[in-house]
Amino acid sequence: MSIFKYTATELYDALTTKKDMVVLDVRNKVDFGRFKVESPYPFILQNISYFDFMEIEDECVAKVIKDKPVRIVCAQEGSAKYVAEILEQHGLQDIGYLAGGIKSWGNLLVPVLLNPGESYKLFQFIRPGKASTSYGLQSGDEFMLFDPSRNSDFYLDFAEKNTCRLIKTFETHLQADYIAGSRTLSEKSGATFLANENDFAGARIKYTPLQDEAIYKFSQPGPAVQCIFTPGHTPGSTTFIIDDRYMITGDTVFIHSIGRPDLGGQVEAWSDKLFESLQKIKIYPADMIVLPGHYMSWEEANDRLAFVCTLAETMASNKDIYAIEDKARFLDFIKSNMRKQPDEYAIIRRINANLQQVEDDKAEELDLGKNECAATAYAAKQKSAETSS
Ligand SMILES: [Fe+2]
Repeated sequence: MSIFKYTATELYDALTTKKDMVVLDVRNKVDFGRFKVESPYPFILQNISYFDFMEIEDECVAKVIKDKPVRIVCAQEGSAKYVAEILEQHGLQDIGYLAGGIKSWGNLLVPVLLNPGESYKLFQFIRPGKASTSYGLQSGDEFMLFDPSRNSDFYLDFAEKNTCRLIKTFETHLQADYIAGSRTLSEKSGATFLANENDFAGARIKYTPLQDEAIYKFSQPGPAVQCIFTPGHTPGSTTFIIDDRYMITGDTVFIHSIGRPDLGGQVEAWSDKLFESLQKIKIYPADMIVLPGHYMSWEEANDRLAFVCTLAETMASNKDIYAIEDKARFLDFIKSNMRKQPDEYAIIRRINANLQQVEDDKAEELDLGKNECAATAYAAKQKSAETSS
């Protein structure tokens, strides 16, 4: 049998080991244009819709690049399997269809151990479908999470496999671009949910309010987690300093760019706050490792395919931003990069504050797609798209 089902993890592994293959997406052009499989490396990606395969089978089969393994992606799973069967009938071999469809790619989390060989473990969980990251900190048999995404079972399984249990789950801010996992994780595991009152005051959630400059610990000796309020992207945006070496910056500082302070409709006030927060962050040691909540593209990844850099590096690659010396000019910069935010963000915020509940299918749909949290990169891309069209 040359047809088989493969997982999103297997697809990620194949892409990152540069397997010579064809990824065939059989969704329609609009859905494909909105959200598709991406890789740190070039790969062959074809889009031929399932409907076309049904109507003009021979023509579609002729378009598929032959003599390479084919990995088919569709919305759910069924149409990829259907196309796999057609290709098999036409003599193609080594044909896989993605289990769970594009949603399983969208929910995929890839753990990278950031500090091998040390007494505690710090993991970056990359979500390639969202260009976002969450973090896990393990010391002995205890585990803390920072900005977990909606795929709560993944984190609980991960903890179990690493023989530890979740004791605390932190949010850097009230997320607008994806459905956060802390509430569900805390309900499922009994872990304490810690969040900033300046974002979560109206939320229908049982949480422990974070205190500015407070230190959070493991019950046994382990790395300290210090909480620093860094408002601006949102009023409750928080940075966590781990072991005086790592800085989980949420959507305040990215490798390229900084977080947008215009998502709450109060750009003047929030821009001032963000400017003050950046002044606070700038004075930390230059070798502090920045762990951002998002990335703009795979170009930012290091040779281990993790999204980390030193504070000095991010300040150097964004020197125009960090060189701004007053709030008025900073606001000018922010305003010149402003753009509309996706309509779903308002609903996602309400879901994350538990002020609105939606069915699982709707949650999946809202949660899929790239983030729009950075102040510059997307604006630049949009501009170049406008000028070239
Ligand atoms: Fe955000």
